Amino acid sequence: MRTKCFLVLALFSLLTVNTYAQTDVAKAFVFAQKQTVLMLKEVDSVKADAANAALASPRTLEADGKFVMVPSKDWCSGFFPGELWFLYEYTQNDKWKDLAKKFTTNIEVEKTNGNTHDMGFKVYNSVGNGYRLTHDDHYKAVIIEGAKTLSTRFNPVIGSIKSWDNRKQWKFPVIIDNMLNLELLFEATRLTGDSSFYKIAVTHANTAMKNHFRADYSSYHVIDYDPETGKILHKQTHQGFADESAWARGQAWGLYGYTMCYRETHNKAYLQQAENIAKFIFSNPNLPADLVPYWDYNDTAIPNAPRDASAAAIAASALYELSTYSANAKDYRSKADKIVKVLSEKYQAKTGGSKGFLLLHSTGHKPNNSEIDAPIIYADYYYLEALLRKQRLFKDEPVVSLNSINTDKGKK
Ligand code: GLY
Repeated sequence: MRTKCFLVLALFSLLTVNTYAQTDVAKAFVFAQKQTVLMLKEVDSVKADAANAALASPRTLEADGKFVMVPSKDWCSGFFPGELWFLYEYTQNDKWKDLAKKFTTNIEVEKTNGNTHDMGFKVYNSVGNGYRLTHDDHYKAVIIEGAKTLSTRFNPVIGSIKSWDNRKQWKFPVIIDNMLNLELLFEATRLTGDSSFYKIAVTHANTAMKNHFRADYSSYHVIDYDPETGKILHKQTHQGFADESAWARGQAWGLYGYTMCYRETHNKAYLQQAENIAKFIFSNPNLPADLVPYWDYNDTAIPNAPRDASAAAIAASALYELSTYSANAKDYRSKADKIVKVLSEKYQAKTGGSKGFLLLHSTGHKPNNSEIDAPIIYADYYYLEALLRKQRLFKDEPVVSLNSINTDKGKK
């Protein structure tokens, strides 16, 4: 009898936890829709001024409340269209699909912009999500063109895609963030059967794995190479506290990047790398109990340092995916659950406030004194992506849905 009671109680508490969590996702999407309606009004009001006609997407809110929009060439331009696709995906309401299409159109021109490595952030998050959800051949063509353009930045001597041009202090800088742009290349191989994109992505991931990481699996932000010899010239930071520090968002990009590379290749070394990065993040003595990191794990001002909610959102989304590949599934999933719960309960903007942004307390570029403790669009994007992944796990669906699945093509 006692055993029966215990089993019933255990089942009840399990159901309560899951039901609560699913309600949590639903609540967050109600909130996100309301906020996005507000954000769209802000966009209209900014674009009503003819001088702003070329601006494509919202990026942040300044301390004085100024709503900042950016042109398509900005690395953040793809996140808002991506969010609109996520709202469509969750609600299946064509209103969001029409808006997603409209804002995605503004980004497509970037497919031929070879001056930047941010092709994935811009094109994959907008057009890539659009293709995933509509299978529109036009989007497919944009993804392929974008991947071709991104490939022109690959240097085979180094084995990496160049991140930034025209930086006097660096010859061939590669930043850890660049791992995220590889997803576009894997997708291009899936769509075309041309393995050259896949090979570039894998080579870049291998080079970064060799050179960006320290013994404790924290990562340098910038590795600068000699483009003629492939020799490492500098290991430094750009957005972090110090060259030898662990910039919080950089650690999250690494976690997300190697999890994604494992999905695309099934190479166990990438899975191990992602798990090692997760271990660095979640065993770090400077990680606060709510799992939302300070902007840099080594800022000497901790605990009086700003947080970076974006790093937490990126990590949560990555952990949901990693949980589906790893023996540590339970731990990763419970950490991701904790992060999205904390973000929802403690880091959300007030409904009707913050000009439609979803999350407060991200840090963009502290050494530059910009976007400190601010709402930033990529935090919102990865928060929604994490929630969608959580929802798919509830429904027992694959946490990441791939286009035209043929994962063997790239390995030829
Ligand atoms: N460059 C991308 C970032 O700020 O995380």
